[in-house]
Amino acid sequence: AEYSVVIPAAGSGTRMGAEGNKLFLQLNGEPLITHTLKLFQEDPWCSSVVLAAKPEEFEQFYTIIEEKKLNKVQTLIAGGADRQESVHNGLKVIKEETVILIHDGARPLVTEALIHHVVEQAEQAGAALLAVPLKDTIKRAYNNKVVETVDREQLWAAQTPQGFRLSLIREAHDKADRLNYKATDDASLVEWLGQPVRIVKSDYRNIKVTTPEDLIIAEHFMIGRES
Ligand code: CTP
Ligand code: MG
Repeated sequence: AEYSVVIPAAGSGTRMGAEGNKLFLQLNGEPLITHTLKLFQEDPWCSSVVLAAKPEEFEQFYTIIEEKKLNKVQTLIAGGADRQESVHNGLKVIKEETVILIHDGARPLVTEALIHHVVEQAEQAGAALLAVPLKDTIKRAYNNKVVETVDREQLWAAQTPQGFRLSLIREAHDKADRLNYKATDDASLVEWLGQPVRIVKSDYRNIKVTTPEDLIIAEHFMIGRES
């Protein structure tokens, strides 16, 4: 099975609180984004990578791409004001009618096995995403006052990669753009079209590096994987 992947990398890393894009922070001796890009470079199923970045950071990404010989990164495109726009811009340059994966630049710990599960399920069902069952008890609150405790039984935390048939994810993103519908992941847009989305049970280690403590956790998982 073959796929192309769109990697949104045009964020600001506000919650990380570092100076500049968190994707350039060092993780186990290399920039965070290098780890993510290497995963796809080394996966034989991956035919091409589209990277969405801020134009003022293109040079920094080019340097990494050349230095690490990441020749699957065929297109560097301008990201947008939010993640959804960045992904939408990426989808516009995809030509191959293969499965399309969308994967956060900030998730350097996904494995090839998990990626392949998503590709297979997306081929079969049209749309699939990685997710893990919630471990915490979830409260809904208003002004710090509990409104209800949500039944955890049916709740999953969504991750990436998320995989789609190209025509389906294009339709979802185009329509959302036209009607100004916003969501925090791509599968939501397909759900909004009323189309089925399949869950692939993931690994709790596939974290999105978002806040400072995530860097320590991610580094720990990475070292643990090598030994
Ligand atoms: N992203 C993007 N374009 C944007 C915003 C985010 O391509 N306009 C990317 C980020 O670079 C990241 C992924 O989407 O790889 C997931 O976003 P998130 O973890 O929220 O990263 P940031 O938006 O950079 O962080 P924050 O929300 O804390 O500012
Ligand atoms: Mg963000």
